[in-house]
Amino acid sequence: MKKFSYLLFCVIVITSCQQPNSSNMLATEEKKDTDTVVDSHTYAKPKEAISTHLDLDIEVDFQQKKIKGKAAHQIKNLAKTNHIFFDTQDLSIEKVTIGYPEKETPFELGVKDKNLGQALQVSIDSNTTIVTIYYSSDPSAQALQWLNPQQTADKKHPFLFTQSESIFARSWVPCQDSPGIRFTYNASVKVPKDLLAIMSAENPTTKNDSGIYYFKMPQAIPAYLLALTVGDLVFKPVGARTGIYAEHSMIDKAVYEFAETEDMLMAAEKLYGKYGWGRYDIVVLPPSFPFGGMENPRLTFATPTVIAGDRSLTSLVAHEMAHSWSGNLVTNATWNDFWLNEGFTVYFERRILEVIYGHDYTEMQAVLGKQDVIETMTEIGMSSEDTRLKLQLDKRHPDDGMNDIPYEKGYLLLRLIEETVGREKLDAFLNKYFETFAFKSMTTEVFVSYLKTELLKGDTALERKLMLEQWIYQAGLPVNCPTMVSTRLQKVDETIEEWKKGKASNQLTTKQWSTHEWVHFLRHLPSDLGIEKMKELDQVFHFTSTNNCEILAEWLHLVIGNKYTQGYKSLENFLSTVGRRKYVLPLYKAMVKTTEGKKMANEIFAKAKANYHFVTANSVEEALKK
Ligand code: BES
Ligand code: ZN
Repeated sequence: MKKFSYLLFCVIVITSCQQPNSSNMLATEEKKDTDTVVDSHTYAKPKEAISTHLDLDIEVDFQQKKIKGKAAHQIKNLAKTNHIFFDTQDLSIEKVTIGYPEKETPFELGVKDKNLGQALQVSIDSNTTIVTIYYSSDPSAQALQWLNPQQTADKKHPFLFTQSESIFARSWVPCQDSPGIRFTYNASVKVPKDLLAIMSAENPTTKNDSGIYYFKMPQAIPAYLLALTVGDLVFKPVGARTGIYAEHSMIDKAVYEFAETEDMLMAAEKLYGKYGWGRYDIVVLPPSFPFGGMENPRLTFATPTVIAGDRSLTSLVAHEMAHSWSGNLVTNATWNDFWLNEGFTVYFERRILEVIYGHDYTEMQAVLGKQDVIETMTEIGMSSEDTRLKLQLDKRHPDDGMNDIPYEKGYLLLRLIEETVGREKLDAFLNKYFETFAFKSMTTEVFVSYLKTELLKGDTALERKLMLEQWIYQAGLPVNCPTMVSTRLQKVDETIEEWKKGKASNQLTTKQWSTHEWVHFLRHLPSDLGIEKMKELDQVFHFTSTNNCEILAEWLHLVIGNKYTQGYKSLENFLSTVGRRKYVLPLYKAMVKTTEGKKMANEIFAKAKANYHFVTANSVEEALKK
C-alpha cells in the first residue's frame, strides 16, 4: 500500500524541454516563462481565445445518470480568430450559440482520443464575448460516480460526486481543461428535491423546496477544481469559517474527527499568509471515493476512511487545506510540474501538523514518506525517468507515471532547502512566493529562477550545495537527500527486535502508539511470518477487525503474503466497500504475484468493480492484465 498511485497525469509538454542531461540544462530551462508553456493535454488554444468566466446551468438526472444543461462561457478572443476550442469527453453537444441574444453557430467535434477526449471547435466572430454550449454528459462520464442508496452511509438516497483532477472536468462540463487556464464561475444546479447540491464555491447549508441551488465562485480557478456533490447531506460547523457536510449517520463522527480544522487553518495562515477563499468546509463522501482527499476550493472532498474515531488520520485535512495555497492559489502550469502542487503541499501539511501535534509526530510521517518514495523508486527502477521531479508524460495515458514521487521527493527537496538556508528564510520566501504568484500558474523553471533570485540571491556555493538540477531533472534521490530520524519509530524498531527474539505479542509496549507507529511496525515485520505468528499477532492486536483503514490495509498485505486465510474475508470485504485507490491498487498488485492470488484478485474485482470510480477501476484493470 505504501505507494500512492496518484493518478492521471496528463502530459503537458514544454516545447523545448527535452530531458536535460547536461548540467547547464537548468540555465536553459530558466529562460522560459509560463507564457511559453504548451499543455499537450488540452485542445484549447489559450493564446488565441480563452474562457474567463463560466455560467453553468445544469440539471442532475439520477434516472438517466446524466448531467444536462448549458455552459455559457464568457470569452476573450485575443487573436481575433474565428474559432474557439474547448475540451470534451463523451459529451453530447446539442447546439452551440454565440452572443446575447443567442445566435446558433456551427461547431465540430474532433476525433476521439482515448486520453484527451474530443476537441469542440466553435465558430465565433472577432468580437464574440459569449459562447453557450447545450450538452449532456454520458452515463459513463469518467469524472462522475453515480451511487445507488446501498453504496451510501444512510442507504436511503442516491448520491453523486465528481472528480475532475486531472483532466476529467471535460467529461461533465465542456470547458478549457488545462491547469494553466483560470475562470470564475456561477452555477445553477437542479437536483431531486430530497437532495442537497454543493460545489467548489459559496455553498448552501440546507435543502430547499425547489431543489434548485445557486453557486458563485468569484475567484478564478482552473477546470480541475470544478466540483459538485449531490446527496442527502447535512451541515454542521466546527469553527467560525469551517464546517462539515456529511450524510446523517456520519455527521457527528465527522464533526468529532475534524474538530481541529479551524486550528489547522489558523496555523496555516500564520505560516504562509491569509486564507483567501472565504470558508473552508469538508464534505465526507461515501467510501468508493477514489482518493483520500481532493482540494476542491472552499470544499475539500474527503474519504470516510480517515474517520478512525481518534483523529489519527487528520493529516489529510492539513494536506487538502494546504492546497489552498500550493495548488489552488499558485497552480502547476502543466501536469509535468505536478510536484509544485503536491511536493509543496506535503511540506506545508507537515508544517501545519507540527504546530498542532509537535515535531516528534511529523517526523514519523516524514520518515514513513521517505520509505514510501524509496520503495516506489525501487519498484519502478531508480534510474527510471518517472523518478524525476519534472515529469515528461507526453502522449502517455494520464495514469502513467503517477506515484508518490512528486509528493515525497518534492517534500525532501523543500526540506533540503529548509535545512540549507534555515526555516526563517524559507518561510519568508514562501510567503512572498504565494503572494506574488497568487491566482497564477507556475512552471518548474520559473520557480527555480525565482528561488535563485529571491532566496539564494546569487550565492553560487549555496546553489551548488542544493544540486537543484539533479533533484529536478535527474532520476533517483541525490546524495544530499536529507536524512531523518524519528525517535518514536526507533522505539518501534526496538519493539520489533524484542518480538523477533521471542517476546510474546501481548508483552510488547504498544499502548501509546499512533497509526504511524502501527504502520511502521507492520511494514517492518518479516514478510514471511507464517500462519502461527500471524495468528498470534491477530489475537493480541485484532488487526483483521480493526476500523483503522491505514492499519488494516497494511495488515492485509501480510494476509496476502502469508496466505493467512482467516483474513481473506476481511480482505474481500475491504476491497468491496473501499474504493480509495491508494489502498485498493497495491492490494490487487500484491495478489497477482501468485497464481492462486491472481484468481482471487479476479474474482474479487469482478464483484467489487461496480463500486469503484473510473480512476480506481481503470488502474486495477491495468494491474490485473500484468
Ligand atoms: N490532489 C490530490 C488528489 C489527486 C491527485 C487527484 C492526482 C487526481 C490526480 C490530493 O490533494 C491528494 O494528494 N490526496 C491524497 C491525500 C494525502 C496525501 C493526505 C490522497 O488522496 O491520498
Ligand atoms: Zn495533494
